[in-house]
Amino acid sequence: MLELQNLCFQISKDTTEPMNGVFSAKEDSPAGKAPLEKGAAAKEIIKNINLTFDDHSFIAITGPNGGGKSTLAKLIMGIEQPTSGRILYNGTDITQMSISERANLGISFAFQQPVRFKGIKVKDLIALATGKAMGSTANNAVGKTTSKTDSEPAGSQKTTPRVNLPNACDYLSKVGLCARDYINRDVDASLSGGELKRIEIATIIARNTPLSVFDEPEAGIDLWSFNNLIQVFEDMHRESDNSLILISHQERILNIADEIIVLAEGSVKARGRREEILPELLRGTEGCKFYSTPQMA
Ligand SMILES: Nc1ncnc2c1ncn2[C@@H]1O[C@H](COP(=O)(O)OP(=O)(O)O)[C@@H](O)[C@H]1O
Ligand SMILES: [Mg+2]
Repeated sequence: MLELQNLCFQISKDTTEPMNGVFSAKEDSPAGKAPLEKGAAAKEIIKNINLTFDDHSFIAITGPNGGGKSTLAKLIMGIEQPTSGRILYNGTDITQMSISERANLGISFAFQQPVRFKGIKVKDLIALATGKAMGSTANNAVGKTTSKTDSEPAGSQKTTPRVNLPNACDYLSKVGLCARDYINRDVDASLSGGELKRIEIATIIARNTPLSVFDEPEAGIDLWSFNNLIQVFEDMHRESDNSLILISHQERILNIADEIIVLAEGSVKARGRREEILPELLRGTEGCKFYSTPQMA
């Protein structure tokens, strides 16, 4: 279970730095950054949020642009540190934990805009995600025949960490990519935004952690892959006890979630069963009471 207690995140209006003087989790924090003065003018991005996410839940978070959804996801993953409040995961206070520590506890995060890695191949990312395929002798035959592409120098199989190719294919095809075409590609600028996004989603599927947070997984994804993606999320929810938090604007994604949370202006405006919340959202921002009333929940 994930619990957010009185979570706040403020930035200085002038410098756009977080008010606690920490930009991100421990290992990524710029060394020696001095905390900002407490009295500095602040912009509140996340305003005293209290939320609980039960195990095996499928929750969609939606709301207008700039409402704080991505920031909330980054706070959960430890990419940003809250100004105040606590985050508990299965009863453990993880507020001060680094990104890696949270990842080791079983939390995954897919960025709204995924990061590119120069010199890392798609198969390396998937192998890292599965954590068990590196150098594995299982499925050798398949690995040998399919891990080699025309672009790979002869004999490179011996030194290339062996990825469990059938699984890698599975993960990539779930997001609409042909594994043969992508497995040896570099995760760099040569990939389009949509391809990168799908590869990142495939790595999260491969990680198969108890909690996965996807930030606008639909962004930049074509319709065919989007249909697959809907299926992927439904399967993930049905076939495992893992929890999913999906940040999305897409009606079809909201429509498969069990619960919907509406986040606007840094506050939770509504939370409820899909059947209660979605019809109201579909009225549009003009008539939607969630966007125009003060905090409801
Ligand atoms: N580090 C930061 N510096 C400056 N502004 C930020 C920072 N992080 C978030 N914001 C601002 O906080 C608000 C919420 O952003 P975000 O969480 O990305 O919203 P959403 O994902 O709901 O569109 C936006 O106005 C954004 O510009
Ligand atoms: Mg966002």
